[in-house]
Amino acid sequence: MTGDIAHLGHVELLTPEPEKSLWFFTRVMGLTENGRDGDSVYLRTWDDYEHHSLKLTAHHTSGIRRTALRASSQEALDRRVKALADAGRGIGWIDGDAGIGPTYLFTDPDGHEFELYWESEWYEATGDLRPALKNQAQAYPGRGVCVRRLDHVNFLAAETEPNGNFVRDLLGGRVTEQIRLNDGTIAAQWLHFTNKSYDLVYTRDRTGTRGRLHHIAFATDTREDILRAADIFLENDVFIETGPHKHAIQQTFFLYVYEPGGNRVELCNPGARLVLAPDWKTVTWTEAERAKGQAWGLQTIESFHTHGTPPVA
Ligand SMILES: [Fe+2]
Repeated sequence: MTGDIAHLGHVELLTPEPEKSLWFFTRVMGLTENGRDGDSVYLRTWDDYEHHSLKLTAHHTSGIRRTALRASSQEALDRRVKALADAGRGIGWIDGDAGIGPTYLFTDPDGHEFELYWESEWYEATGDLRPALKNQAQAYPGRGVCVRRLDHVNFLAAETEPNGNFVRDLLGGRVTEQIRLNDGTIAAQWLHFTNKSYDLVYTRDRTGTRGRLHHIAFATDTREDILRAADIFLENDVFIETGPHKHAIQQTFFLYVYEPGGNRVELCNPGARLVLAPDWKTVTWTEAERAKGQAWGLQTIESFHTHGTPPVA
């Protein structure tokens, strides 16, 4: 089962401010539009080999509608679908979105919706979007922050552990790091499918609400890109929540902003960190270690523990 999920494919993000969010993702973040469908716009990061990295959908509120995972083969897809259906987590098959083949929908125990697919049309750039090098999907846009790829999704969940167990047992993910509170509950878990040290994260939602989003994250090539991004956000009146700074957990260099629809978006640079050990031992951080704050001692900003989307009273 380990290896049945190849990687995070794309996410569908909801926004009550579709025009402003589209401006943010294209002009400020540097994604490229790749078609529209009803109230949705497909957007891609320049290094994505697939049709899109982000589906931005106009909605009455913010949040994440769906997270897409690509299976590693047709057989892997069939195996996971059977396991998900047997576990009672399946919703069923749909025709895939643009560029994506038959897609199986399911939910995690907290209610976040996922899609799983194998068939994926490789992006073929045309005109000005043709890259100079054949081993790159699209020309480097050189626009705004110019993020390279969608990196991970951090979900809020009423309880984290059942969701981490679900990703481990039904999708073959592994917990690389976690926070365990003094009372024994798991406050957050970082899971990976790839040699990246995390692809999905579950963080406890202090409001007890189900199905919410903490943030989606895009990767840049370097830490310096994130320092430059801070200036770009400042210049464009984008709300900077915290950073640039370095997490102790996973050692990610980060910057968090709110896109105009209210969703938290992270820029991350995990440096050269990869998890190659097949017998990686989960790193558990204690409540006291967590209370020390970020890597260089700055305390975690309060809104980081309270802001999620969609907003709740
Ligand atoms: Fe993150």
